[in-house]
Amino acid sequence: MCGIIGYIGNSDATRVLVDGLYRMEYRGYDSAGIALVTNDGIVLRKVAGQVRDLDHVVSTMTQRSCLGIAHTRWATHGVPNDHNAHPHMDCKGQFAVVHNGIVENYRTLKKFLEERGHTFSSETDSEVIPHLIEEFYTDDLLSAVIKACSYIEGTYGLAIITLRQPDCIVAARMGSPLVIGKGQNEYIVASDLAAIISHTDQVVYLRDGDIAEIAQDKLRIESRQMGTIAPEIQRVTWTLEQIEKSGYAHFMLKEINEQPLVMRDTIRGRLNYDEGIARLNGIADHVEQLRDADRIIIIACGTSWHAALIGEYMIESLAGIPVEVEYGSEFRYRKPVLTKGTVCIAVSQSGETADTLAALREAKRHGIPVLGICNVVGSTIARETDAGIYIHAGPEIGVASTKAFLAQIMTFALLSLLLGRLTHLSLDAGRNIIDAITRIPDQLSDLLQNLPETLIDIAKAFKDHRNFLYLGRGYNFPIALEGALKLKEISYIHAEGYPAAEMKHGPIALIDKNMPVVVIAIKDAIYNKVISNIEEIRTRSGIVIAIGSEGDESLQEFADYTIFVPKTLDHLYPLLTTLPLQLLAYYIADLKGLDVDRPRNLAKSVTVE
Ligand code: M6R
Repeated sequence: MCGIIGYIGNSDATRVLVDGLYRMEYRGYDSAGIALVTNDGIVLRKVAGQVRDLDHVVSTMTQRSCLGIAHTRWATHGVPNDHNAHPHMDCKGQFAVVHNGIVENYRTLKKFLEERGHTFSSETDSEVIPHLIEEFYTDDLLSAVIKACSYIEGTYGLAIITLRQPDCIVAARMGSPLVIGKGQNEYIVASDLAAIISHTDQVVYLRDGDIAEIAQDKLRIESRQMGTIAPEIQRVTWTLEQIEKSGYAHFMLKEINEQPLVMRDTIRGRLNYDEGIARLNGIADHVEQLRDADRIIIIACGTSWHAALIGEYMIESLAGIPVEVEYGSEFRYRKPVLTKGTVCIAVSQSGETADTLAALREAKRHGIPVLGICNVVGSTIARETDAGIYIHAGPEIGVASTKAFLAQIMTFALLSLLLGRLTHLSLDAGRNIIDAITRIPDQLSDLLQNLPETLIDIAKAFKDHRNFLYLGRGYNFPIALEGALKLKEISYIHAEGYPAAEMKHGPIALIDKNMPVVVIAIKDAIYNKVISNIEEIRTRSGIVIAIGSEGDESLQEFADYTIFVPKTLDHLYPLLTTLPLQLLAYYIADLKGLDVDRPRNLAKSVTVE
């Protein structure tokens, strides 16, 4: 949940590190710090606050260095203050460590270290790490880190520097992502590509159990399982421009506006009109396994879980294969019945979500094949699944997931088309779906042109309300959940999503003249039922904001506000109805003056339980 970075090379390390922190700030933003190896020893600066506060502090520093580490924090143990900010150091100030993850046995380790005379200056779990290294160091940092790591239970991405060997960084990974970028006579290690990409496109992804010794001109990797291994250099295709704001006020707005392009990228090369089918090369060897599965279990968290629900509806209705959707966090701790014939699919934007990862490992332990639907190439989930589909949404920086959600839904549309054609769907039906899918990018572009004005007006009218209800049915029930999640996570307004018909079983008690209810009421198979639900709201003086299908003028009679989306097939409507809900949440949060891209208490990649 934190961002870590280390640099060794010929450039000014302070600048490289602070610029890298800015790019990773979405991973955590309650405090930040930097440690540099200089002629005056290790120089340490830490501040509670954002990276810009650290930038301000380092701008007054006179020391220069070409070797250092830095951190932006999302607190797990110990409140966000200067002491608890990273880097952490040992007793004599010779080792500095930045850590992303949780040391689960830190109390035991702390007691052991205190008994051996170590003193601590923070409330964090992470501080045990520099003390362990100090305890085990004789003359080689790599060996000391290997030994320290063998004592740690939990997760870590680590970067460590020491005065005793002022010519290297040691980095270690277990459960928290780490990438090493190789430049001209320089290396950058970071928890995120975003911090590396402006320097080089040559990267090495560390695996769990890897510990790397990084010198200016040499990279050595020790794998826990395989001993010394040759670094496997890969080329990154994401550009820096893709991960910058390109003139938008926020990443979230930029990412919402990128969705037509993303849809094109998700479907590119994957539709075969002649055969009315989708082609998904990443899972080509597993398609029959899916087609013949007794049951598919989709595992995910948060927004990805909502996309998984839509996937469930699509696969069951187009291909007739039973599907269950599970929260990663629940699946891993209950005792799921995993019979032969079950196939799991793990869905994750980041590919690093701890709960989803643990659940997929649990499924693998039972011998169940696990496929992945991920955005981040080379991420842990992408690597640990047997095969998978990349959604090609490009880097998503805003903490609130938007374009990745749409790309996940589109991926499920492709998967259900593929499985449908292998089971029930006729050629004509397949072609009809392909026609509708290919219209989606332009339909989204039109919406992006036309919607903002109306949504800004609605946002102005409701930004000070304390509660919202979101209702939808069928394919649009998960969109109601997602609309409510978007609003609550960035505007801090309480919002609930419900299947529209469930309202009368409880939530209807909340409805009065102050309750805005967003209802997705598109002209699909259950339209009339949704209109009845709207009537129930109106009868109780609730305020109805309806999302309807273009041409359905009569909807205006039932709703206080109406927003129309173009017509499409029932199962593809979520690709269009999501957009107004994303924009509504965005404008409300922005009008409230909130930090849209970095909502309080959240982090982009939830790598802790
Ligand atoms: O990276 P993942 O898709 O696995 O992340 C899952 C959730 O943490 C994520 O979707 C979260 O709910 C977002 N903040 C939603 O906007």
